[in-house]
Amino acid sequence: MPSNEILKVAVIGGDGTGPEVAAEGVKVLKAVAALEGIQYELTDFDYGGQRYLKTGEILPPGAFDELRKFPAILLGAVGHPDVPPGVLEKGLLLELRFRFDQYINLRPVKLFPGVETPLAGKGPDDIDFIVVRENTEDMYVGMGGFLKKNTPDEVATQIAIYSRKGCERCIRWAFNLTRKRNKKKRLTLVAKTNVLTFGHDLWWRTFQEVAQEYPDIQADYNHVDACCMWMVKNPEYFDVIVTTNMFGDIITDLAGILQGGMGVAAGGNINPEPGGTSMFEPMGGSAPKYTGTGKINPIAAISATAMLLEQNGHEKAANRVINAIQTVTGTKMKSQAAGKMGYTTTQVGDLVCEAL
Ligand code: IPM
Ligand code: MN
Repeated sequence: MPSNEILKVAVIGGDGTGPEVAAEGVKVLKAVAALEGIQYELTDFDYGGQRYLKTGEILPPGAFDELRKFPAILLGAVGHPDVPPGVLEKGLLLELRFRFDQYINLRPVKLFPGVETPLAGKGPDDIDFIVVRENTEDMYVGMGGFLKKNTPDEVATQIAIYSRKGCERCIRWAFNLTRKRNKKKRLTLVAKTNVLTFGHDLWWRTFQEVAQEYPDIQADYNHVDACCMWMVKNPEYFDVIVTTNMFGDIITDLAGILQGGMGVAAGGNINPEPGGTSMFEPMGGSAPKYTGTGKINPIAAISATAMLLEQNGHEKAANRVINAIQTVTGTKMKSQAAGKMGYTTTQVGDLVCEAL
């Protein structure tokens, strides 16, 4: 999007502490927009568990046509204690990812100054990589079924789908990102070609083929199990990782804890095509027990806001937000854990705004 257009953002606060952290993201967005002369328009949507319990619908008819008008969605969190697990995840989060064909799930893994990592002897220079997770295929498509359900002979299948188009667009996007990032110039494909000899063979062949177009980038490979080991032992090895949806889900939780946990880890569900609608979110859940206590860490939601700005052509504003976050984690906050920050949720948002 050209950076002189009005930046239209849909805000889905969601459940539990979601609205509280989203509010801090919005606060920082407003502050940086004023400083950088960015025109914006914010629209709130009340989708989530609360609305579902009241009305029986997760996304009302017309929701997609409404949201389609926005290049960006800022999502707080979904998940409600009175709604069975999976309902909101499937009906809202995955639904939006699929319907808007947000085929990139981008998860930066950067240890900010002052943030504690469980890895002994590793610091911000060692933990700085990005995971590009495919976001529309694999076991997430919901294919499969039961045979002889609830009998001793029951069989269940859960099918992983991989398409040439799906992996190629993701791999190519990851190569471009590695080039643009211009750091170690290493793109590591993480898969399991020694066991998943069909689906991950398709990924492997496609990766080798696309790599020919990027002679300046090292096309590297790790099996997913080995990747988990190396990520803990030598996180500094990684620059950009590209991986499948299911493995990406798992390794980004491991990566998330290396960078300080769910209070800081953010992600973007990106449809990079012109006119696409992308969605940005803190990786943590709705943390219902902290609702309204001011204890939840908004840094992840503020990082997600920085990603939103960057993906919408406001790179300078995004960098400004990331720098401000680093000032606050490095010189103000005591911890990234909920209730131990030394400040309330809104105070952390205020500190980031001051540091801008
Ligand atoms: C994530 C989450 C989701 C996923 C769940 C909530 C469906 O774990 O964004 O990583 O598995 O993708
Ligand atoms: Mn996950």
